[in-house]
Amino acid sequence: MPDSKPAVGLEGVVAAQTRLSLVDGQNGVLVIAGFPVEEIAPKASFEEMVFLLWNDRLPNARELEDLRRELASLRTLPVATTRLLRDAAAQKAPVIDALRMAASTLSLRAHGETESTDPRRDAKAVVARFPVIVASYWRLLEGKEPIPADPGLGHAANFLFMLQGKAPSPERARALETYLNTVSDHGFNASTFTARVIVSTGSDVVSAITGAIGALKGPLHGGAPGPALDMVFEIGEKARAEEVLRAKLARGERLMGFGHRVYKVRDPRADVLNGAAKALYKGDADKRLYDLATHVEATALRLLEEHKPGRSLKTNVEFYTALVLHGIELPTDLFTPCFAIGRVAGWTAHGFEQQALGKLIRPQSEYVGPRDRKYAPLERRS
Ligand code: COA
Repeated sequence: MPDSKPAVGLEGVVAAQTRLSLVDGQNGVLVIAGFPVEEIAPKASFEEMVFLLWNDRLPNARELEDLRRELASLRTLPVATTRLLRDAAAQKAPVIDALRMAASTLSLRAHGETESTDPRRDAKAVVARFPVIVASYWRLLEGKEPIPADPGLGHAANFLFMLQGKAPSPERARALETYLNTVSDHGFNASTFTARVIVSTGSDVVSAITGAIGALKGPLHGGAPGPALDMVFEIGEKARAEEVLRAKLARGERLMGFGHRVYKVRDPRADVLNGAAKALYKGDADKRLYDLATHVEATALRLLEEHKPGRSLKTNVEFYTALVLHGIELPTDLFTPCFAIGRVAGWTAHGFEQQALGKLIRPQSEYVGPRDRKYAPLERRS
C-alpha cells in the first residue's frame, strides 16, 4: 500500500520518458521531437511530421516520397469497414463513434492486401485510413456516396477532396496541415496514455488506437472545439460577450477552450493556430467572426481570472482549433474526428516507443473501502 496520498487524476506524475514531445506548462512551451511547435507545425507536411515522430528525424526527399506513396496506396478501406460505416450512418451514429467502430475493423485487410504482422505497416494503414473513414462517413451521413481517394494529393488535401468533392486551395490544405501537425503529439495526454497502456500489455496498434479514440472523445480532452465555436456563435456580437460568459460562469458551466491540466500560461498551440486562422480568414464575413472570437477570448480570460483568481485558466488549443477548422468549412461534428486524424501520428509513435521499452504499465490504487463485510443471503437483504 503506498504511504503517500495518491495524485488525484495522476496530476504531476511522470509515468515515462519520451523523445516525442515536451510539454512545459509553466513556460508555455511545446517541443515535438526536438522542434518547437511554432517552428515545425506551419512548415512541415503531415507526412513529414509522421516520419519525424516515427524516426526521430526529418525524411530526405526520397524517404518522404516513399512514405507519401505508401500512405496514398493504403487509402482503400476494407470492405467490412465501409459496410459498418453504412450501418452506422443509417443509425446516425456520431462521427467520432463511427471512427472508433471503424478503427477497430482496420485489423482486417483491404481487397488485394497481403497479411501483415509488421506494426509499422499497420500504423501506416491506420494513419492513411483515418481521414478516409471520416470523409466517407460524413458523406454517407449526408446521403451521398463516398468519393474515391485521389492518389495524387497529399494526406491533408486528399481528406478535404474526399469530404468536399473538390481539391482544396493550397491555403486551405496548408491550414489543415498546420492544424494536424500542431495536435500530432502532446506528452502523456489521456488518449496517448491509453494507447501506451494498451501497447504495454503486448497488444497491437489497432487495439491501441481504438482505445485512444474512446479516451479522446470526452469533452475534457478532444471534444471541446465544437462547443467552443458554438459559444462564439451563441454570443454572436461583441457587445453580448460579457453578459453571456458571466451567465455561463454563474451557472457553474465551464468555458470551452479555456483551462488546461498542464499549461498554466497560454497554450503555445493556440498561437500557432491563431496564425493559421488569421491567414485563412480574409473575407469580410470571416474577418468579423475572427474579430468576434478574439474579443470573446479576451473577455473570457478576464472573467475567468475574476471567477477563479490565481487559477491561471488560459486559452487552450481547442479555441483556435475551432476557428481554423471552421475556416476550412469543416462542420463542428468533424472537429474531434479531425483531432484524431492528427493525433494518430503521436499515438502510433508512442506505441513504437512503448514497444521498444517493453515494460508493462501497471500503477497501483489505494483501497479506501471496507474490508470486513459479511455475505447476506438474498432473502435477508432489504
Ligand atoms: N471554465 C470555468 N472554470 C474552469 C474551467 C473553464 N474552462 N477550467 C477549469 N475551471 C475551474 C474548475 O471548475 C475548477 O474549479 P474548482 O477547483 O473551484 O472546482 C478549477 O478551475 C480547476 O479545474 P479542474 O477541472 O480541477 O482542472 P483540470 O486540470 O482537471 O482540468 C480541463 C483541465 C481542460 C479539463 C478544464 O480546464 C476544462 O474543463 N476546460 C474546458 C474544456 C476544454 O477546453 N477542454 C479542452 C482541453 S485541451
